[in-house]
Amino acid sequence: MKANNLVLEVKGLKTYFYLDEGVLKAVDGVSFSVERKRTLGLIGESGCGKSVAAQSILRIVPPPGKTVEGEIVLYRNSEAVLDLAKLHPRGKEIRRIRGKEITMIFQEPMTSLSPVHTIGNQIMEAILLHVTKDKRYAKELAIEMLSKVGIPNPHQIMNEYPHQLSGGIRQRAMIAMALSCSPSLLIADEPTTALDATIQAQILELMKKLQDQFGMGIMYITHNLGVIAEIAQDVAVMYLGKVVESAPVREIFHNPLHPYTARLLKSIPKVGRKARTRLEAIEGTVPLPIGLPRQCNFCPRCPEAIEGVCDKDIPPLVEVAKKHFVRCFLHTQKAT
Ligand SMILES: Nc1ncnc2c1ncn2[C@@H]1O[C@H](COP(=O)(O)OP(=O)(O)OP(=O)(O)O)[C@@H](O)[C@H]1O
Ligand SMILES: [Mg+2]
Repeated sequence: MKANNLVLEVKGLKTYFYLDEGVLKAVDGVSFSVERKRTLGLIGESGCGKSVAAQSILRIVPPPGKTVEGEIVLYRNSEAVLDLAKLHPRGKEIRRIRGKEITMIFQEPMTSLSPVHTIGNQIMEAILLHVTKDKRYAKELAIEMLSKVGIPNPHQIMNEYPHQLSGGIRQRAMIAMALSCSPSLLIADEPTTALDATIQAQILELMKKLQDQFGMGIMYITHNLGVIAEIAQDVAVMYLGKVVESAPVREIFHNPLHPYTARLLKSIPKVGRKARTRLEAIEGTVPLPIGLPRQCNFCPRCPEAIEGVCDKDIPPLVEVAKKHFVRCFLHTQKAT
């Protein structure tokens, strides 16, 4: 078999929420892959299904949500070993993978750090669970990780509680925890949005450095295209539960093909600007993905929509140039 650098391959993933109002199709047939030492940026407006896609990979989608279709293939040493979609969400196997092979960092560290345990105990707990049973070694490793993420006084931080730390240090502590078991895949869901621009830039540098050292693949979710330009090599653009365009980062920035991507790019918040800036340049709002008609999801908001074409069917995702995929009749009609 040909060697590859894959760590994860998601194919045709569908995760739906079964609500009283109807079936909400948060993720509706999404495919993407993440490679070793590379970062996939996942972008799109609020409510497009980025976080639910991440939760689906870790099998932590809360009820009434359910992954109903698709594969989440985990690779070890370039070999496909396991379809995470087939595992029981609370079973032993996925629990062994979560927090070790695949870890996640969130926008607000307080949601993943326990307020009643010291930072040291929390990092050590992850290490004791996944790496070693030796407490002294676990402590050494925890201190080493804290210093690797640039915390100047790791011994002291070990004994402190999350609320005693500044936002930046807390974020670093969470990253240290996420990296303490050398994951092969790190999922970062807007991890720097709450931080000021300087700290944000430092954290990005740090993640790149650690990625180099550990060789992990990163899936980085954000609204901030400046951050994507900084950290990602590949980009997938989501709209209403579907990937509408995916390409190497340079292609996305210089040659965006989908009208949605082109409009997202018009509102690039620069890395230096306030990180909270949201992308609001596109007219209209994202509807709830319940009972959507059989047409291009972006059609009602698209200034370039072709009547009788875009409102008649769902466009397929087509490779229009090498590694450049787009789901839009404007481009796929030309190709056929
Ligand atoms: N626990 C839940 N119960 C019901 N619906 C949900 C739940 N979580 C997400 N959704 C719905 O799924 C869709 C996708 O949500 P998701 O949180 O993945 O968006 P997102 O792209 O991460 O947005 P943001 O950029 O605001 O974080 C939305 O329509 C949302 O309302
Ligand atoms: Mg989200």
